[in-house]
Amino acid sequence: MTIREMQEEILRLKKQKNIVILAHSYQRREIVEIADYTGDSYALARCVENGKAQTVIMCGVRFMAETVKILSPEKRVYLSNAEAGCPMAEQLDPELLAALKEQYPNAAVAAYINTTAELKTLCDVCVTSSSAERILAKIPETEILFVPDINLGRYVESKLPNKKFHFVQGGCPTHVRATKEDAARARMVHPEALLLVHPECRFEVVKGADFVGSTSGIMDFAKKSAAKEFIIGTDNSIVEHLQYECPEKKFYPLSKDLVCHNMKLTTLTDVWNCCKGEGEEITLPEETRLAAKRCIDKMIELGD
Ligand code: 13P
Ligand code: SF4
Repeated sequence: MTIREMQEEILRLKKQKNIVILAHSYQRREIVEIADYTGDSYALARCVENGKAQTVIMCGVRFMAETVKILSPEKRVYLSNAEAGCPMAEQLDPELLAALKEQYPNAAVAAYINTTAELKTLCDVCVTSSSAERILAKIPETEILFVPDINLGRYVESKLPNKKFHFVQGGCPTHVRATKEDAARARMVHPEALLLVHPECRFEVVKGADFVGSTSGIMDFAKKSAAKEFIIGTDNSIVEHLQYECPEKKFYPLSKDLVCHNMKLTTLTDVWNCCKGEGEEITLPEETRLAAKRCIDKMIELGD
């Protein structure tokens, strides 16, 4: 079977069964092409709430499928590859977070959306890379315990000098691979290019960037910018997608090592199997779902 034949088969099943396919921007090109919605974590969390489709296939990682299920419990939500998890989402266990909360009793607990549903049950507000600064600026508390990404946390801290932040040592094992030496080298080789980075990168890399944003933020910036060349400091699939969308511009990876292997686990065959009903359906105990929903509702209230 060719890629195109499989894509056509997925499109046929999707229509026949009224399935909606969501793909995070880090997915492979052939998956992005057949998705109904593509975007960053925030966009994917929100896009199906009011839609008619009763079945949702998430091509991304587990916390993204969980978030959809938390917000749309009446829908059947599938994770197209059951092994695709975000290592950062599982770095902190609930017992450790409970202990940290005792240590900082006056702090609001802000969870990056890259956390398990169970961890979210212990948090006050959820944030994404595109909304963290906006949301944390609005909460009344001046003291914030930010988990689990210390790099995104440091970036937001630099934007909100009136708030006091506490961190735990956690972060994305993919973005941490890009160093400031990589940034210096890329700038030397491509002196005309703007450096666009995701805030999950090391803070020393983020500090030297021309633009910092979520995956969708980076893509929008590059598409609208008058500049012609860009160094991309996030998963290298964004380099590929942007190159297709803006063939007249040039895109270079900040580092060859910026590849999220979890995001790349999902294949077109997984999506096809899922359309046939063979994927993993996400289920959450109702108590966990409702408790986790509180911090996501807060994110929606403050983020829109
Ligand atoms: P975005 O919300 O920017 O898509 O980030 C999600 C993620 O996991 C990036 O590593
Ligand atoms: Fe998780 Fe990092 Fe992969 Fe994003 S890039 S899904 S944060 S491991």
